This record gives sequence, C-alpha cells and structure tokens, in this order.
Amino acid sequence: MIRAFVGIPLPEEVADELEAAQAGMPSGREAPYDNFHITLAFLGEHPEPVVEEAHHALAGVRAPGFSLRIDGLGMFGGARPRVLFAEVPRNPGLTRLHRKVQRAAHDAGIALERRRFHPHVTLARFGRDGLRGEEAAEMQAFVARRVGLRAGPFEVDHFVLYRSHLGRAGPIYEALAEYPLDAPEAAGDEAAGSR
Ligand code: 2AM
Repeated sequence: MIRAFVGIPLPEEVADELEAAQAGMPSGREAPYDNFHITLAFLGEHPEPVVEEAHHALAGVRAPGFSLRIDGLGMFGGARPRVLFAEVPRNPGLTRLHRKVQRAAHDAGIALERRRFHPHVTLARFGRDGLRGEEAAEMQAFVARRVGLRAGPFEVDHFVLYRSHLGRAGPIYEALAEYPLDAPEAAGDEAAGSR
C-alpha cells in the first residue's frame, strides 16, 4: 500500500523563514524542514495501481500558476491545540487548483475526506489529545508573539504527488511525480471568467 497526498512544496527562502519561526517553541514536535508543504489533497493508503491511476489523472490537470504568501501563525484544535501552522491566505488560483486536484482524485476512484480546505503549512504537532493548561497557554503566547510573521509572495509553478513513509522518527515524504502549471494568467483574466 502507498500512503499518498498531493501538495505544493515551498521555495527555500520561505522554508527558511518558517524554520526560523519555529525557534523557541515551548512544546511539541517540530515538522522537519524537508517536510514543509501545503497539502492540496490527502489521498490516503491505496494499492499501487490506484496511485498510478491518480498519477495519470493529476498529469491531466491544466491550471495556471499563481502566487502565494504566508501570513501569520495559527493552531488547529481550539482550546486543546493539536497543530501549529503557518497560514496561507487562499486566492482564486489556489482554489482552482485545489478543485481540479480533488476532481482528479475522484476520477481515479479515490474518495476524499470531506474537510473544509484550510491552506496551511504544518510547523509542529502536539499529539492527538492536544495541549492543555499551562502548555496550551504558553503556545498561545508563542503564537501571539509571531502574529506578524510574513513570507513570500512566491510563485507556484508546479505541484507534487508525495508518498508518505511512516516511521518512528516521524513521516518521511518522497516526491513521486511533479506536475507543471501553465503560465500565470494576466491580472483581470479571472474576472473575465476564462476556463
Ligand atoms: P497536516 O499537515 O495538516 O497534518 C501528509 O500526511 C499531509 O496530508 C499532511 O500535511 C496532513 O496535513 C495532510 N492530511 C490531511 N488529512 C490527513 C489525514 N486524515 N491523515 C494524515 N494526513 C492528512
């Protein structure tokens, strides 16, 4: 079985800034630098032929490139934070690519979880039960000190099919295939409703 997901890698200069933002984290397991990415779709575990099918469908995705940026930190889990992430404001290019990747997975016979798409880069995990009490308060203070974190903008000109190898020391992500995006649209094209 292959555990696979589709995502957008980060350029080095953006990854460097996120790594710097991890410094001094009061608790949690940091996501390693090499794992930084924006997930477009988590495909789950499938036999190789299903992943091959997904690869063919993804290779058929046609979408224009776009730019992204990082704007602040956030946490999933509410009062019991489970994940620390860097916020990626969505834009029409990203929304369109997300939709097309979802459709490609569907065409390959993969049923995706029905989750709201909240684009982000995971920076740390705090375990299934999340943080509580003082640890939660310390993390909230840490995040509050970094609300001004900004990185990018950067151009997204491809996306990637990753395999996730689970291991004791955390997952290792392996790029299985890269898919180029078309040239970015000139400003105003989207409003004209092209494609
Ligand atoms: P996360 O970073 O927000 O945890 C590989 O596991 C990637 O797929 C991770 O970036 C993870 O998001 C995302 N993902 C989405 N749904 C997932 C799930 N049910 N199980 C594991 N990873 C998931």
